[in-house]
Amino acid sequence: MEKSNLAIVTGINGAVGMGYAKAMIERGDSRVVGIGRREAHIDSKDFENISQVDLLDEENTRNAVEGIRHGAHKRVVLIHPIGKFKWEEEPPKGDEIDQEVFASNVTTFTNVLDPVLAMVRRMQNASLGLVMFGSVADKWNLPFIQSYTRSNNALRKVLEDTIRGNPDLRITATSLDLGTIDVGSERNLRPYADRKFWLTVEDLVAKSMPFILPDNEDVEQDSGVLRRVEIFKPKPGFDPSRYYPNHGLVQRVLHEEMGINKE
Ligand SMILES: NC(=O)c1ccc[n+]([C@@H]2O[C@H](COP(=O)([O-])OP(=O)(O)OC[C@H]3O[C@@H](n4cnc5c(N)ncnc54)[C@H](OP(=O)(O)O)[C@@H]3O)[C@@H](O)[C@H]2O)c1
Repeated sequence: MEKSNLAIVTGINGAVGMGYAKAMIERGDSRVVGIGRREAHIDSKDFENISQVDLLDEENTRNAVEGIRHGAHKRVVLIHPIGKFKWEEEPPKGDEIDQEVFASNVTTFTNVLDPVLAMVRRMQNASLGLVMFGSVADKWNLPFIQSYTRSNNALRKVLEDTIRGNPDLRITATSLDLGTIDVGSERNLRPYADRKFWLTVEDLVAKSMPFILPDNEDVEQDSGVLRRVEIFKPKPGFDPSRYYPNHGLVQRVLHEEMGINKE
């Protein structure tokens, strides 16, 4: 019998994408299609890999999505854990943000979104869940991560416009606003950080799954608005409202963690 959910997971070769794919297969109610540039393997009949896909390439991405085999699933979810982060000592001038960061966060999503919408429309009656990944820091509008934050905000707007522009589809959209995840990219960027309060991929997947695959009632209830969900590992005594507005302190902490000016 066809699985209830069809999960399309991009960035399947990253720790986060792979974490979601494995967890969804373990649930037993989902078929997972993992999309990436390189081959990925999960030993399950419920997993299919589409490799050699550069999500910055619109046509390449469209062909990949159009090749997805699907049946009468109740729900399609697009999980998109891709997006470059950049620390910027100087905020960008005016509206000029780093185009590589923008493309990595936004274009990769929009390239996959359009053919996924067409697919869901053909399927009739399936609901669609869209899941993007941002940071808990975005709402503090830090000067040092403007290209990243503004890209995430642009993507949130894309999701809101998608909900509004497709009233015939039942769409839920979720922005998972995360604390640091303990993955290779962050360890490389911040080799001197204390990782005790970083999220593991397993924590992230477990805490976010109820928002990604809610029961049907919730799908009805949550359709129509972008939901922002903060997920982090609370650090005793840490008060974000005192930390983030103190830009000098944020800069000192990050310099320390990145090893900038280290003797
Ligand atoms: N890490 C954190 O602490 C943190 C915190 C908050 C939010 N986030 C968000 O969480 C998400 C995942 O972060 P991450 O650190 O795990 O990222 P990552 O290590 O850079 O992994 C991203 C994955 O995306 C793939 N990818 C990148 N560009 C692609 C393209 N053009 N076409 C196809 N695949 C592409 C990469 O493929 P390859 O393997 O082929 O390179 C990699 O597997 C991002 O959206 C990030 O903004 C992360």
